[in-house]
Amino acid sequence: MAKKAQTSPGPDLAGLEISDLTPLEARAEWTRLAEVIAGHDQRYYQEDAPSVADAEYDALRQRFNAIEARFPELASAASPSRKVGAAPSSRFSKVRHAVPMLSLENAFSGDDVRDFVARIARFLKLSEQEIDFSAEPKIDGLSMSLRYEGGELVTAATRGDGSEGEDVTANIRTLQDVPTRLKGADVPAICEVRGEVYMTKAAFLALNERQMAAGETVFANPRNSAAGSLRQKDPSVTASRPLGFFAYAWGEISARPATTQSGMIAWFERIGFRTNPLTRLCHSAEELIALHRAIEEERAGLDYDIDGVVYKVDRIDWQERLGFVSRTPRWGIAHKFAAEQATTVLRDIEIQVGRTGALTPVGRLDPVGVGGVIVQNVTLHNEDYIRGIGNKGEALREGRDLRINDTVVIQRAGDVIPQVVDVVIDKRPKDAEPFRFPVVCPCALHTEVVREETASGEEGSRARCSGEFACPYQKIEHLKLFVSRRAFDIDGLGEKQIQTFFDREWVREPADIFTLEARNASLKLEDIEGYGATSVANLFAAIAGRRNIALERFVYALGMRHVGETTAQILARGYGSWQVFHDACLKVAASDAVAIAEMDALDQIGDTVIASIGAYFREDHNRGIVDRLIAEVTILDAEKPRANSTVTGKTVVFTGSLERMTREEAKATAERLGAKVSGSVSKKTNIVVAGPGAGSKLAEARKHGVTVLTEDEWLALIGQWGGLVVWQRDARGTHDFREPRLIKRSGT
Ligand code: IVH
Repeated sequence: MAKKAQTSPGPDLAGLEISDLTPLEARAEWTRLAEVIAGHDQRYYQEDAPSVADAEYDALRQRFNAIEARFPELASAASPSRKVGAAPSSRFSKVRHAVPMLSLENAFSGDDVRDFVARIARFLKLSEQEIDFSAEPKIDGLSMSLRYEGGELVTAATRGDGSEGEDVTANIRTLQDVPTRLKGADVPAICEVRGEVYMTKAAFLALNERQMAAGETVFANPRNSAAGSLRQKDPSVTASRPLGFFAYAWGEISARPATTQSGMIAWFERIGFRTNPLTRLCHSAEELIALHRAIEEERAGLDYDIDGVVYKVDRIDWQERLGFVSRTPRWGIAHKFAAEQATTVLRDIEIQVGRTGALTPVGRLDPVGVGGVIVQNVTLHNEDYIRGIGNKGEALREGRDLRINDTVVIQRAGDVIPQVVDVVIDKRPKDAEPFRFPVVCPCALHTEVVREETASGEEGSRARCSGEFACPYQKIEHLKLFVSRRAFDIDGLGEKQIQTFFDREWVREPADIFTLEARNASLKLEDIEGYGATSVANLFAAIAGRRNIALERFVYALGMRHVGETTAQILARGYGSWQVFHDACLKVAASDAVAIAEMDALDQIGDTVIASIGAYFREDHNRGIVDRLIAEVTILDAEKPRANSTVTGKTVVFTGSLERMTREEAKATAERLGAKVSGSVSKKTNIVVAGPGAGSKLAEARKHGVTVLTEDEWLALIGQWGGLVVWQRDARGTHDFREPRLIKRSGT
């Protein structure tokens, strides 16, 4: 009987890194987030009374999107994501569209298109021959409304729910395709140009490569990455992401310069926009269908994703007569392409072992082109997936399993992660046997493979090698993380070089990297193919340059489970120095209640992370790795929070119930202002914020003579409560926070 792997308990999914979520956990966490976000959206958009800070909301949203990016099957399902997706999705200010931004009906077949044309002719009482259509590729991006007043760009808004979008003007200004001033002397006083923002496939792949190297979320498709790039709070991030814009429609316009859709498109070009070069004027349903076929054939070679062709009645006066049925125009339709599928043979199933020991089966295919991309590998997720069982125990591919040498249908539906959608049973070789998922790790140690427990204590679908530190796969994966860009980032020492050094047993653990130079008299790196005296000298210089390392990078580089880059940053800022952090970790490992409470008090740090840090530092092997490594490097203290506030450097404890904010928000705000939030009261505590129901911590505070504040007094102290003057200004007019003064509002 395989022993169950240790996993984190259920309620703490929120603390898990997305890369560590099993599909089942991902679904649970996704559902939870969808509900939380929907609640916040309701309070923010409908009630105008948000209950969380922007940053906290953005973090929830980011996590939600990241889960969907990693588990695209969630995004395509019905239910909460749709609802969430429909609402304007982050805290950009809202823009009400002067003319609503609506969407189009879909057509899926030639007959749908013939019906569409016939319907229009009937409606207008014309013969079909009289009606021209503008046919435009349906760009798979985000629609955008650009408002120009007096020829100047004043606002750029996303579609949002059609009536109200998000103001992304600052970000849109960074796009080369969007003129900030319209060309020509006679542009209408008010003019809203609409179109699609998109990212090219090449830019998307390059961005994902960077994201992957940096250990950041990988986007599922160019559309998502365009949306993510546009929703940046910092326009310089948007500027660094190459986004394009095609104009194809308009909203409010004080004088319309053309009488047809094709005339408007020509005008968009004259005033400085790009329009799609595949746009054509067609004269019949058959011409539309032929163009659709031709564009579908060209699709793979285009540098941007399209998911169909849009047909619009060309004459605008006829469009106006046709009007709308609920939220879609009678005068237009989107003729979609079928999902891109291809048939190939599954030649092998290999098992990859990740840094944390998770076993992922990867299907090796006979290379096949799907939508312009040659696909050779496909993730098979887990053992159940191969057996034809989904995350919820439902049947996949009608319950058919996958066997080596099976003919399989793979699909890329506007999605760069291909899926195996079916297996062609008729073509199954007679001798094909069900795939046997390994019961031991493919590593040389052949350690037992165990399946994780799910949140509810059942056997989950993720298998893990129980060999941990002894498993060479886990060791090499850790070394790769160690040298990656967000960790030690050593020039000239990437995955390939680390693998070479590992295979030769020159580097078995991180500290070995720093002793390479001293050992080189016998190793002779310069004798490896591709190296020479200069590159070896450069490598040693790069390694030496990294002997001073920022605390957050160091913590991340240790590769503890559930301690990704963000968590490492929080820990580094929370503890300030390696000495303090290391002491805390050792105490946490020894189950010291105070140390655990202190760690728990850090924003976003919960049981899962704490348990993982404890487990890491309880292991002699890990402590050895850390000790040998710290003998080689100097760890720089974390940057002090930039905020200089009344509470910078103070240790604060919140106790009892808070009425004006959630505990999470209180913590986050205090930390943003440079305070350290702790879970327990000691002599070192500076402030205890006590709400109704405060008990032992309040008593403890009184015992130590610690300042006790009510919630309102706390808000006043940090300057977040109206009517109170708490800051003094110095002679330069900047804030002087050294001597905070709490000034009571009269009557309170
Ligand atoms: S016209 C009233 N033209 O497809 C309809 N839409 O389902 C206005 N799209 O939200 C839209 N290319 O994001 C139009 N050439 C094109 C388009 C296009 C892409 C997107 C757009 C819109 C959706 C309609």
